[in-house]
Amino acid sequence: MNAVTADLVIRNGKVVSPDAVIEASIAIKDGRILAIGADSAMPPAKETFDATGLHILPGAIDDHVHFRDPGYPHKEDWESGTAAAAFGGVTCVFDMPNTIPPTGTAEILAAKHEIAAAKAHIDFGLYGLLGDDTIANVPALVDGGVIGFKLYMGNTFGKIPSPDTGATLECFEVVAATGKRISLHAENNDIMERRQKRLMAAGIRDQFAHLAARPPVVAVEAVSRAAILAEWTGARIHVLHISTADELRPLREAKARGVDITGETCPHYLMLSTEDYTRVPGVIAVNPPVREKHNQEPIWQALLDGSIDVIATDHAPHTPEEKTRNDIWTVDCGFPGVETQMPLMLTEVNAGRMTICDYVRMSAYNPARIWGLYPRKGALLPGSDADIAIVDLSRTHAIRDAETQSRSKISPWDGRAVKGLPIHTLVRGRFVMKDRTLVTETKGWGRSVHTIQKMPKPTVRHAEHSMQSITNARS
Ligand code: NCD
Ligand code: ZN
Repeated sequence: MNAVTADLVIRNGKVVSPDAVIEASIAIKDGRILAIGADSAMPPAKETFDATGLHILPGAIDDHVHFRDPGYPHKEDWESGTAAAAFGGVTCVFDMPNTIPPTGTAEILAAKHEIAAAKAHIDFGLYGLLGDDTIANVPALVDGGVIGFKLYMGNTFGKIPSPDTGATLECFEVVAATGKRISLHAENNDIMERRQKRLMAAGIRDQFAHLAARPPVVAVEAVSRAAILAEWTGARIHVLHISTADELRPLREAKARGVDITGETCPHYLMLSTEDYTRVPGVIAVNPPVREKHNQEPIWQALLDGSIDVIATDHAPHTPEEKTRNDIWTVDCGFPGVETQMPLMLTEVNAGRMTICDYVRMSAYNPARIWGLYPRKGALLPGSDADIAIVDLSRTHAIRDAETQSRSKISPWDGRAVKGLPIHTLVRGRFVMKDRTLVTETKGWGRSVHTIQKMPKPTVRHAEHSMQSITNARS
């Protein structure tokens, strides 16, 4: 006799994994998946939910968001940001450290963990800031539960100083020994700074000047240099927001050499181009910039062949006033995305650009694997957390910035038609968004996922040349 009673059985959906779509029911108990299979094989349940006609996806894991909390509550906070995520079928986010104060010490990290845990509807990981001033804090940040580190090779919103190559090498040496992954904003700061100064001095302040200050070589150089330093030290790195076709060569070559390097792109680099600049001036400004259309196809191909591992959003909310200033050098760069990534990408599934299995691979399975969360996260398997996006692939919808959960209310996606929409989102078995309505009582339900993270054993290389071993040997 089966004595177990499930808390919830989701019945008769189409369950999606990276390999297949199967007609199945899912039983959930204590926040985890108890069983998946034929509806007739499900245990008795306290509650059932009919998902006939709907697809059941592992919730998306967005490893690149800026929820601005603490520091910029007028742009976003943990409550509004995670509400937006819940509406977007996203069940776990990793928040970037360019908040105020930046997440560079164990004390600041602990405070941010508390803020997030009090407000979040969904699960989260917190990045620690890696730079010249925080190298010494790495062990304490790891003990404090960072999901990984963020290193700004180039300056962007928040004016976090970018470490020079010497400091970057030392950062990689120290983090390599911890096994954690380092996410990189891979843009060369020297080139950008010089070009921006020259353009400003020449009085050029239109939006194309932003693009001119950051030509593709800015990214190509940074990715190549980071790959060399990662190869030397054994550090694990993740190249954020790949925007150009040119970055793919150093990325692929490093992968072929066995460097533990992974890549990410975002919907705006796949679906927007310089042709959109005059339509949404300033609003579209983001670092790295949205580029010429010819970059889109190679980035799509890289995503489909696995060279780029992850689709994330760089959710970077700012207000309409901050986005529409006349002088491009004063416009805040970035725009929200955590709520619109899934509908935009499902629209591409409907258009035949990729399969829904491909989508699950890049939105959930791969991020869970590269961040050491698989199979607790990123999968619908017995024992996995019941983090689920229930989507209607045939539902059409028009994105309206005014109707989004994010506080930002301005993006280049306003008015865009999509087909394929998350209708319900569950985090550890609990509905956080149901029938396109936020379950407000789940505020504070989100938990930090660092407690379940298991990165593979560190693979340190050339340790004998590291600053730490040299200074240790002499003291
Ligand atoms: C981000 C932000 O606003 O915090 N802006 C952006 O243009 N992408 C910072 C970043 O990720 O570079
Ligand atoms: Zn960035």
